[in-house]
Amino acid sequence: MHKYMRHALCGAAWIGLLWLMAPAAWASDGVPRAAAATAPDDVAQLYRRHCAACHGDRGDGRSRAQFGLNPPPRDFTSPEAWYELSHERMLTSIKYGRPGTAMVAWEKQLSDAEIEALAGYIRQAFMRDPGDDSLHRGKQLYKRQCSACHGDRGNGASWAKNSLNPSPRDFTAPESRAELTRERMLTSVTHGRPGTAMMPFKGRLSEAEITAVVDYIRAEFMSGEPSAAGAPSAHALPPPVTSEAPPEPADMTLAFPHGLTGDYKRGRAFYMENCYTCHGRRGDGRGPRASFIKPPPRNFLGERSRQTLNRPALYRAIFNGINGTVMPAWSRVLDEQQIADVAEFVFQEFIQGGSGAGAATQQAPASGGEGKKKAL
Ligand code: HEC
Ligand code: HEC
Ligand code: HEC
Repeated sequence: MHKYMRHALCGAAWIGLLWLMAPAAWASDGVPRAAAATAPDDVAQLYRRHCAACHGDRGDGRSRAQFGLNPPPRDFTSPEAWYELSHERMLTSIKYGRPGTAMVAWEKQLSDAEIEALAGYIRQAFMRDPGDDSLHRGKQLYKRQCSACHGDRGNGASWAKNSLNPSPRDFTAPESRAELTRERMLTSVTHGRPGTAMMPFKGRLSEAEITAVVDYIRAEFMSGEPSAAGAPSAHALPPPVTSEAPPEPADMTLAFPHGLTGDYKRGRAFYMENCYTCHGRRGDGRGPRASFIKPPPRNFLGERSRQTLNRPALYRAIFNGINGTVMPAWSRVLDEQQIADVAEFVFQEFIQGGSGAGAATQQAPASGGEGKKKAL
């Protein structure tokens, strides 16, 4: 492992935390693996032995581990879990883990039958249909606070589409489904989107109300299996680069948050160790791991990236990761400065590289060989 990375990892408390929990989660307990435990009592025990350390005895994510982990362990009792976690998805997540999170793969420790049984147990014991209550609340809030701009059907009120720049999100667009993770939506609604008509709702709405309205939007406008309705190609996977509606360009002159300044050279070193496997050495989204990944890693050379990924957007994406994709939340292993460094590299090298506009302010190290796009 690269020195830089190891250093970052050492400082990260969560590693220590995993060690603390190891006896609970991973110690061999002498139970023969072959004796697949699928009787109800046995399954409950399997859960307590392997899963409760993080997900809590009651499946609500309240455990000793919850504060050390980012993202936190799933709260199976939340409405979100009900909407998002299909049986299939649970099987996959348990078996193969959730890369970049503390949710490890269990395929070596548990048989398929045990994984099935555990998923069934979690659904039955913890997951609850939220019913109409919170959705109903979300719906009312949406009507009052959001529909004026986002439209009754979530695809943008026509006045707003014509007069706001950028125009409000069309929640029904395939792009929105791909990009708008629940976490991102909560953040955007709470803090707003600076420089746009999307105002912060913090102070106007409580946290619970923000959650309710976001869950409503997701359930009402953004859910539904792609292609389920047989709608004519509306749900076809968005082509990676060309989308019909070109994105509204972001302000590319904006600086990093907290007055940070990134160091291109250090960022480059980190990128070439840790990011290229997915995003590619040239930033074209074609790293060696890319073909196994869905959705695929972002191509930084694409029009959309060049229009939207300014320094704050890069910083945010790298800091938080992209939920629902394998893009990890790097804030677990990097500090703010290190995130600014790698974001600076991506910005100069790929987003602005080659376009000439805004010209990189720092010279790329002349090591060559990495497929420089820039004619410096
Ligand atoms: C070391 C802590 C830890 C342990 C132990 C653990 N989990 Fe998780 N689990 C997590 C975290 C963190 C997440 C959230 C991952 C994310 O947000 O992508 C998660 C998410 C999940 C999810 C939802 C995945 C998805 O697709 O969103 C399921 C299902 C799950 N865990 C089941 C289990 C089961 C079953 C066990 C026991 C065999 C278990 N977990 C043990 C930390 C843990
Ligand atoms: C005054 C008009 C207006 C109102 C009212 C409004 N929005 Fe928005 N919203 C926008 C605009 C404009 C954008 C696009 C911002 C951008 O492109 O960054 C947006 C974007 C969003 C996004 C996507 C943000 C992202 O991360 O890309 C979410 C989620 C959202 N709005 C939710 C809401 C919710 C929930 C409400 C009501 C509580 C609401 N909006 C009320 C104008 C509005
Ligand atoms: C395991 C594969 C993987 C690794 C490693 C990885 N990424 Fe990503 N990255 C992804 C995927 C997948 C996406 C999401 C693409 C999407 O949402 O369509 C993504 C998205 C992004 C985005 C775009 C966010 C946006 O809003 O469009 C940025 C920026 C980014 N990654 C930067 C990085 C940086 C910097 C590193 C290294 C520190 C890194 N990634 C490492 C897979 C990876």
